[in-house]
Amino acid sequence: MLSMRSPFPSSSLTTLASSLLLAASGTVGTAWSNPDPLSEKIPSLKEAYAKAFLIGAAPGVAVEKDPAAQKLLAQQFNAVTPENCMKPESIQPKEGEFDFSHADWLVRFAETHHMKVIGHTLAWHHQTPGWFFKTKDGQPASRELALERLEKHITAVVGRYKGRILGWDVVNEAVGDGNNSQLRENSPWMKVVGPEFIEKAFAYAHAADPDAELYYNDYNVERPDKLKKTIALVKNLQAKGLRIDGVGIQGHWGVKFPLKDLEEAILQLKACGVKVMLTELDMNVLPGRQQGADISDTAKWKSQLDPYAKGCPPEVLRKQADQYAALFGLLLKHRDTVTRVSFWGISDGYSWLNDWPIPGRTNHALLFDRELKPKPAFHAVINAANPSSPADPRP
Ligand code: XIL
Repeated sequence: MLSMRSPFPSSSLTTLASSLLLAASGTVGTAWSNPDPLSEKIPSLKEAYAKAFLIGAAPGVAVEKDPAAQKLLAQQFNAVTPENCMKPESIQPKEGEFDFSHADWLVRFAETHHMKVIGHTLAWHHQTPGWFFKTKDGQPASRELALERLEKHITAVVGRYKGRILGWDVVNEAVGDGNNSQLRENSPWMKVVGPEFIEKAFAYAHAADPDAELYYNDYNVERPDKLKKTIALVKNLQAKGLRIDGVGIQGHWGVKFPLKDLEEAILQLKACGVKVMLTELDMNVLPGRQQGADISDTAKWKSQLDPYAKGCPPEVLRKQADQYAALFGLLLKHRDTVTRVSFWGISDGYSWLNDWPIPGRTNHALLFDRELKPKPAFHAVINAANPSSPADPRP
């Protein structure tokens, strides 16, 4: 389980790493020629789960130049969340200067392929440019100025895609971790505006697109301490008459994670009257930074922290597949509450976990490998939807 959250790698690093990997694997620009990694007929996740919930993926902008990944996206998924391009730093890097190009591309792509779009995200302490919180001459912004900017940002971004987005992750990661306070105190939104930024963000989003669903999204929501605080946040919005449709549990997990806690979280959120989504699912197979690891000895460091650079051992892939199967079994059981399960990335080569929390590693967290081929975890997830299915090729 991930609990430390910073620093994030730059998105360009991730993008560059992904492009290099794809170039090395020969998939860039070769989607329609031989060998086509997708020529083999495989079942589709979105069809297997059609009666249960949406199955999403989070493409980064590199996918715009990767026809093979686009083909896989359209074949397997019926929802997309932009990995970075709708975040404040990407879509309004300077005050009043919007870059909608990548978001426009993805929304059009989704419409062409009959996929739902999830907007991610409007108010967050990360990937939000400093200008939101400063005056033009560099002084700290007043509460009123920061709120005015939040309203303008949300009105412009949500308004542009009005009617084309299923739902927005309105506020991301606002709840405090562990024994800390109810809300994350070190967020610039908290420092400049205070807790009310959450209500305001939901109200502005609803005004800009009254039909869009509105979500609160966070990691570790399944942990009892954080669940309690998340529920308090939901109830506060509800008590104020604000629209909140669902809570997104990110799901950045390792192969060991507490299914029991997750089930409890689903049930408690259901009791609040909100939908639940797994919004950023991945299953890290790499070790965390060990205490005392001597990172000046690069070779040793590499082998300890990046053990599967040349490929993931079959037993690890098998364990991951079993965990994915158990997870999807639980999610199916709660299909009345769980409305979407989205993976964070498309394939292992595109996963942010190659660069977080330690840059430059080779992770194997998703259902498709670096050649976009289905892994044992893919077959396990398909079989979980249809236990009588015979196909589960073991590595
Ligand atoms: C990550 C992206 O995947 C990276 O490319 C970027 O460098 C940092 O952000 N929680 C979230 C996501 O809500 O927006 C984050 O995405 C992963 C953690």
